[in-house]
Amino acid sequence: MSIKIAIVTGANKGIGEGIVLHLAKQYKGDQKFLIYLTSRSEDLGKATLEKIRAELGSKYPNSEVDYHQLDVTKQSSIDKLAEYLKAKHGNQCVDILVNNAGWASKGPKVDYEIAKRTIGTNYYGLKNVTFTILPLMKMCGRIINISSTSGKLKILSPELQKKYSDPNLTVEELDKLQDTFINAVKDNTFEQLGYPAQTYGVSKVGVIALTKILARDYRHDPHNLFFAALCPGWIRTDMAGPRATGTIDEGVQTPVYLALTDESRVTSNSGEFWTRKTIDIW
Ligand SMILES: NC(=O)c1ccc[n+]([C@@H]2O[C@H](COP(=O)([O-])OP(=O)(O)OC[C@H]3O[C@@H](n4cnc5c(N)ncnc54)[C@H](OP(=O)(O)O)[C@@H]3O)[C@@H](O)[C@H]2O)c1
Repeated sequence: MSIKIAIVTGANKGIGEGIVLHLAKQYKGDQKFLIYLTSRSEDLGKATLEKIRAELGSKYPNSEVDYHQLDVTKQSSIDKLAEYLKAKHGNQCVDILVNNAGWASKGPKVDYEIAKRTIGTNYYGLKNVTFTILPLMKMCGRIINISSTSGKLKILSPELQKKYSDPNLTVEELDKLQDTFINAVKDNTFEQLGYPAQTYGVSKVGVIALTKILARDYRHDPHNLFFAALCPGWIRTDMAGPRATGTIDEGVQTPVYLALTDESRVTSNSGEFWTRKTIDIW
């Protein structure tokens, strides 16, 4: 029997760590389920792997967790993961990709370096991982993108809302919209152009727009892939800080549900934005 494989990015801590643990715990299938915990720091990722393996013990015999390094901002690192998966498991081996890795600056500061890093990690990192792993996806594979309610369209001017949500938008045009923001931050013209003083929000608008483009472009693909973007809630992690109201166990509920459920109301709704296991308006 072939094995089922999931990859979770940015999983050495926070919501990513929780997603790995809960995928392993909530999986109910008969096939073996192998979850790759990935992180940019090998030391931190392997320490988390040991912690998760200890917690799982022998109670979930069909679930197994393994490790691979992945820095989503480095194409060479993404390529190494793809090559490893192909060599170890064959050409079409991935069932679930959870794009969780993300970065946010502390505080509301908008500057060029912060804009480059935030969009570079949250939008381009996620996009490059997705396009590199896409050819390895199995039939009915799922790509689950962690976005945020900070990425709702309403943060943009009406004109930009139209551009980001244009049903004919291409990935190249979306890249340009994201790059325009980065450059406008450098020139301090971003507000004139209709962007908010919220770099993180713009990066997450890009994640939802990309999810919709992929769902549209793969609608007739014979692999029958499923794409979803979601907000995990306001969750107490290093990113959101101690004032956030939700626990990690709460934050993982929607991504794990979208990754594992067979409910047709989910699988027939590719390209949507989800909060609390429900389709939300963008
Ligand atoms: N917490 C919330 O309230 C909330 C709300 C909405 C959305 N989100 C989203 O949820 C996701 C997880 O965030 P979190 O709250 O769990 O934050 P977190 O605890 O800060 O975890 C972020 C994870 O992303 C990793 N990461 C950052 N840059 C990376 C890179 N270049 N390559 C690979 N991994 C990288 C981090 O690794 P290092 O340890 O090496 O930095 C860490 O493992 C993010 O996409 C975030 O935007 C969170």
